[in-house]
Amino acid sequence: PLVLHVLGARPNFVKAAPVVRALGELGVRQGIIHTGQHYDALMSDVFFADLGLPEPVANLAVGSGTHARQTAALLVGLEDTFLEQSPDLVVVYGDVNSTLAAILVCAKLGIPSAHVEAGLRSFDRGMPEEVNRIVTDSLSDLLFATSPEALSHLAAEGVPASKVHLVGNPMIDSLFSALPSLDPAPVVARLGLPERYAVATLHRPANVDTPEAAHELVSAVLEVSRQIPLVVPIHPRGRTRLAEAGLVDSPSVRVVDPLGYVDFLSLVRGAALVVTDSGGVQEETTMLGVPCLTVRPNTERPITITHGTNRLVTPALLPAAAEKALADGAVTPSGSQPPLWDGAAGPRIARVISAWLKGDNLSP
Ligand code: UD1
Ligand code: UDP
Repeated sequence: PLVLHVLGARPNFVKAAPVVRALGELGVRQGIIHTGQHYDALMSDVFFADLGLPEPVANLAVGSGTHARQTAALLVGLEDTFLEQSPDLVVVYGDVNSTLAAILVCAKLGIPSAHVEAGLRSFDRGMPEEVNRIVTDSLSDLLFATSPEALSHLAAEGVPASKVHLVGNPMIDSLFSALPSLDPAPVVARLGLPERYAVATLHRPANVDTPEAAHELVSAVLEVSRQIPLVVPIHPRGRTRLAEAGLVDSPSVRVVDPLGYVDFLSLVRGAALVVTDSGGVQEETTMLGVPCLTVRPNTERPITITHGTNRLVTPALLPAAAEKALADGAVTPSGSQPPLWDGAAGPRIARVISAWLKGDNLSP
């Protein structure tokens, strides 16, 4: 049997690496289809290198566009690819447009599919990702959940419990694998940062797509930079609009290209504070014990608040929240970290997939 993994965007690569490795160890025949949703070397190639992911068997080079144009290109490219390759199972990750398109094509072609990171909900359908999550979960045959609350969300939407497996978080497997290589010193020196600094990453459409939102956010970030020097590895989505709103490189705000996985996590590990609107970064800071302020009205990852270091803030409240977080100092990772975020999610997923391929009964 053949398993195909559909990957397109930066967080997909991080989540897939442990699953691909574990399936490889079980001798499962597999390949990566890169959709080309992310294509800059610093948004894609560097992750294959840092995470030890094998070369994709195909790259569909769909590139950027409106949701309709990008999704349409994904549908056409993935349908051709699946018809040519005849996979027995397609594995999709997270909540990006590549995830949605792959699950739709599978459903229409009758190809079994698995969703890694199922059941997360922000309950905010204004987020493109929330729509992708709901559709993907409703069409998947195997659903792998990273945290317990996902199980009740899926049950409430009528997903049979027999399809759902609580396996932990493969993004944390990748973090654990990288841990021995995470050294802030070289990156700090290269970027000319002082010993005490904060990291900010911002790319949610609600924060960066309109001049008004960008302006409000940048004003708040600049205020934080008067308390502590900031480094902002800038996602290409917000590059122009955030710069227009005044986020420009200076000694107190280092605006730099996106960083590779190991460099970025090294910086986060050494940071006094992280300001973000990323999904994955909320999880990584929780595990590293670094205070995290998430500039969003909601999160699909509430476990990072209840079990971790995360807090939601509005742009208006960000400077005061940063002051408090910096005064409180580093958060000691507690014994109450999310269950099964132990570095072994990839092997758990691989065991379920391998058994499924053999036709075993998989009811949990
Ligand atoms: C996508 C996901 C988002 C995820 C993020 C991770 C969707 C709907 N959104 O958002 O959930 O959090 O990836 O990073 O799938 N661009 C480049 N180079 C690239 C890729 C993108 O310059 O390699 C620029 C283009 O101008 C593009 C814009 O970034 O229009 C947005 O890219 P896109 O993939 O559509 O969405 P993201 O904002 O990256
Ligand atoms: N990341 C990175 N370099 C950066 C910013 C983020 O390697 O400059 C990593 C981060 O550690 C995490 C993943 O990219 O593993 C998260 O991706 P992103 O924030 O783009 O997407 P989201 O999680 O919001 O969907």
